[in-house]
Amino acid sequence: MRVGFIGFGEVAQTLASRLRSRGVEVVTSLEGRSPSTIERARTVGVTETSEEDVYSCPVVISAVTPGVALGAARRAGRHVRGIYVDINNISPETVRMASSLIEKGGFVDAAIMGSVRRKGADIRIIASGRDAEEFMKLNRYGLNIEVRGREPGDASAIKMLRSSYTKGVSALLWETLTAAHRLGLEEDVLEMLEYTEGNDFRESAISRLKSSCIHARRRYEEMKEVQDMLAEVIDPVMPTCIIRIFDKLKDVKVSADARLQGCA
Ligand SMILES: NC(=O)c1ccc[n+]([C@@H]2O[C@H](COP(=O)([O-])OP(=O)(O)OC[C@H]3O[C@@H](n4cnc5c(N)ncnc54)[C@H](OP(=O)(O)O)[C@@H]3O)[C@@H](O)[C@H]2O)c1
Repeated sequence: MRVGFIGFGEVAQTLASRLRSRGVEVVTSLEGRSPSTIERARTVGVTETSEEDVYSCPVVISAVTPGVALGAARRAGRHVRGIYVDINNISPETVRMASSLIEKGGFVDAAIMGSVRRKGADIRIIASGRDAEEFMKLNRYGLNIEVRGREPGDASAIKMLRSSYTKGVSALLWETLTAAHRLGLEEDVLEMLEYTEGNDFRESAISRLKSSCIHARRRYEEMKEVQDMLAEVIDPVMPTCIIRIFDKLKDVKVSADARLQGCA
């Protein structure tokens, strides 16, 4: 089995290490790439090759930065004969545009559910599109892929809707606990919430808020994309408020040992 990666960042490194440990030959092109990408690829021990050779693999995975995902698909479009898997965080609409650029090969919309840094190569990957079953064959080599939805764009839509929900909960939590903190009632509110929401509520709420502050800038941008996506299917009310909260969180400083008070 041979798998080609376009882009060799954190995602490629994680997935490629697992694939290589199960006997898959992993190839990538390092032409024009930054020193950190080159070092990462060499550490994993992938085969360095030309772009054309990457495109000739039966499975080509695009794991670049979201802003260049469409350009990467355009570049690969005429060459890919196997399946082109777009694993980038892009909107369903952008996924469908990328899909239309792959002229002869198959196309899979794939979405990573969470952070590879935290979950490693066991991370859950959902995939949609006619060729998703083909991509799922990489489970034989240690990946954790499942097919969800039918069309390209479905996997990304699932991920975006999940993201809309989790960011919304974080924003509500922030307002509720900030108000409680200002009233000197934080501990009581947390206790009452624990009573109804379950024993792990406090820990998960604090971890959620810390992570919201640390990643506020990225989440603010992502929420704007969620807003656009929702606007295609409903008249969304929540995103405007969630975006406002993440805009505020961008300026909150969180120390390494931050307790909730540190965020308020
Ligand atoms: N990390 C996660 O846990 C996670 C989770 C879900 C989804 N994702 C998505 O997965 C994708 C990859 O994420 P990542 O964390 O691996 O990103 P990353 O660490 O920032 O790496 C991006 C890689 O893409 C390369 N690249 C940039 N422009 C390129 C181009 N035009 N042609 C070829 N390679 C190019 C970069 O090379 P240079 O260093 O040379 O610029 C780098 O190797 C992103 O779209 C991200 O949104 C990531």
